[in-house]
Order: sequence, then structure tokens, then C-alpha cells
Amino acid sequence: MDIRTEKPEDLEAVRNLNIVAFGRENEANLVDRLRGSGSTFSFVAVQSDRIVGHLFFSLVTVEGKCSKNLSILGLAPVAVLPNYQRQAIGTRMIRQGLKECGRAGVQAVVVLGHPDFYSRFGFIPASRKSLGCEYDVPDEAFMVLELESGALQDCSGTVKYRSEFSLCE
Ligand SMILES: CC(C)(COP(=O)(O)OP(=O)(O)OC[C@H]1O[C@@H](n2cnc3c(N)ncnc32)[C@H](O)[C@@H]1OP(=O)(O)O)[C@@H](O)C(=O)NCCC(=O)NCCS
Repeated sequence: MDIRTEKPEDLEAVRNLNIVAFGRENEANLVDRLRGSGSTFSFVAVQSDRIVGHLFFSLVTVEGKCSKNLSILGLAPVAVLPNYQRQAIGTRMIRQGLKECGRAGVQAVVVLGHPDFYSRFGFIPASRKSLGCEYDVPDEAFMVLELESGALQDCSGTVKYRSEFSLCE
């Protein structure tokens, strides 16, 4: 299986994958809206010439006390085709995606999801780094990973996803 950056010719397959994996169009529409909004990363997992997984990152900001130059991305959405789930494709995509983000100079990544799944990548509750979520979610579900050690040391506040997310639900 190959994990690589999305190409323009992948867009239709990625859209269909998100619709199938989530059973609705919301996430596919979100990805389409976010593309080109600046500082996004989009990765695909390819097996036998078929796109079986997709992983997306977009810029978030911190409303509070934080250096303006801090580069933080939000991981969302991540999806694997139903027949390919539970084969570690999601795990491998996320590991590689985080590595590429680090290489690109991203200092931290936030995610809203299941702690059991995301803790394996080193994500911890964002509250432990004095960061909160703009959405009303359980504390342990909103997590952060520092890609650059100490990057969040002088940072606190509420993490804001791009406005496109408010149209997602
Ligand atoms: C979540 C998802 C991307 C995981 O991909 P995957 O390739 O199946 O994941 P892996 O095989 O690497 O890891 C499987 C692990 O994910 C966990 N998992 C799978 N789906 C999960 C979910 N919806 N919530 C929480 N954990 C989940 C399983 O418990 C499993 O843990 P284990 O390794 O301890 O058994 C995939 O199940 C999916 O596309 N789900 C539908 C879309 C979705 O809900 N995306 C996440 C929200 S953005």
C-alpha cells in the first residue's frame, strides 16, 4: 500500500470515498470547501491502484494567548473504505501524515476523536496544554500533539477550526 499526497485526478475518488465511509455527504463537501483555503494537506492511501483511504489537515487558529506565527493544523476528516477498515490503513496514513506535517514545519496538530485511537500517535487531551475546543465536546475527545517539542509552552486559549466546518453538520 502506498500513502501519498493527493493529486488533482484523485478528487472524485476521494469525494466518493468520504461519502461511502461516512454514509453522508457532509465530510466530502467539507473537504471540497477546504481545499485551496490555504495550509491544507491531503493524503491518500492507494492499494492496487484504488484509493482506499483519505486523510486531511487544515489550518486552525487559537483565540487566546498564543504566538501569531505558531503553525497548528486540525486533523479531519480521516476515512477508510468500509471493506478496508481495521487493516491498519488509518493508522499508517495518520503516522505518515503527521510525519509530513512535521517536515513541513507544522508545530502542532489537534484532533477531535476517540482517545483510544488517537493516543497511539501521542495525542494527549488538549486541556493539558491549556487549549480548549470551540465545540461542546468531552474533554478527553479534543486532543493535541506537539510535533515540535515545547511549541505550545506559552500558548493557551480556544482552538478555532476554519469557518467551513460550521457548515459541516
Ligand atoms: C476511523 C477510521 C478512519 C479508522 O481507519 P482504519 O483503517 O479502520 O483504522 P486502523 O485499522 O488503523 O485502526 C483500527 C482501530 O481504530 C479504531 N476505530 C475504528 N473506527 C473507529 C471509530 N469510528 N471511532 C473510534 N475508533 C475507531 C478501532 O477500535 C481499532 O482499534 P484497534 O487497533 O485497537 O482494534 C475508519 O474506521 C473509518 O473510515 N471510519 C468511518 C469514518 C470515520 O468515522 N472517521 C473518523 C472521524 S473523522
